[in-house]
Amino acid sequence: MFKFIKRNRNNDDKEIIELDYDRMPKHIAIIMDGNGRWAKERGLPRMMGHREGMKTIKKILDRSAHLGVKYLTLYAFSTENWNRPKDEVNALMNLIIEFAQKEGENLHKNNVKFNTIGDISKLPSNSLKAIKDLKELTKNNEGIVLNIALNYGGRNEIVYATKKICEKVCKGDINIEDINENLMSMNLYTKGMPDPDLIIRPSGEQRLSNYLLWQSAYSEFWYSNIKWPDFSERNLEKAIYDYQNRDRRFGKVKQ
Ligand code: IPE
Ligand code: IPE
Ligand code: MG
Repeated sequence: MFKFIKRNRNNDDKEIIELDYDRMPKHIAIIMDGNGRWAKERGLPRMMGHREGMKTIKKILDRSAHLGVKYLTLYAFSTENWNRPKDEVNALMNLIIEFAQKEGENLHKNNVKFNTIGDISKLPSNSLKAIKDLKELTKNNEGIVLNIALNYGGRNEIVYATKKICEKVCKGDINIEDINENLMSMNLYTKGMPDPDLIIRPSGEQRLSNYLLWQSAYSEFWYSNIKWPDFSERNLEKAIYDYQNRDRRFGKVKQ
């Protein structure tokens, strides 16, 4: 109905940002980082930061859906995060269950399709059950896809895809000549989804930490010092605004 929405930036009434509804990123991926430091700054246990970070998910998901984003992929637990202290790993696994229990119905009501990427078979059985139930509940929803990256690693994903393709070659289902970029994409956890247009990393780190290595080939990156529990709808809109003001050339020369 209207092309632009206007938002004030940084609570400063004089500064207005305009978002173009016709050029919204289809797929936004976020590295939800900084929970531990957020808690430490407040003299709280790291777990409190993770808990607070869970609240941010809801806010950012709602706003993304409202803006017309089709896929929101959130990095929640990497293949390397198993190397954290056992207590923290356990607490994170329990938080997944809590998220599914607290938010599940709400996600369903809002037409959100819940999905995961990563090797969830390695998760504890009760976390796995909560995930499977929520996927089942929301499987026919047609609104925004909420992709949670759990026990996800980009390298692990590429190895997993390679094995699947090798199996097909060994069985004679495909020939080596059939292996191409499209076939690789179709064997990743993100099968059938567009590559992320925009990857956001809060908390000040400027690295991928094994996130979406294949899919990020032409993604725009946006970093900020804000820690994930403090990340707001306004920050999301600022990231989209910056994204819309960049020139994505995909290797071509501008006309
Ligand atoms: C991100 O926050 C959440 C997970 C990796 C599970 P961190 O726990 O990495 O927070 P920092 O980076 O230590 O502040
Ligand atoms: C990446 O953050 C993983 C998630 C946010 C789930 P990390 O905090 O684990 O990454 P590094 O250790 O700073 O690279
Ligand atoms: Mg971190």
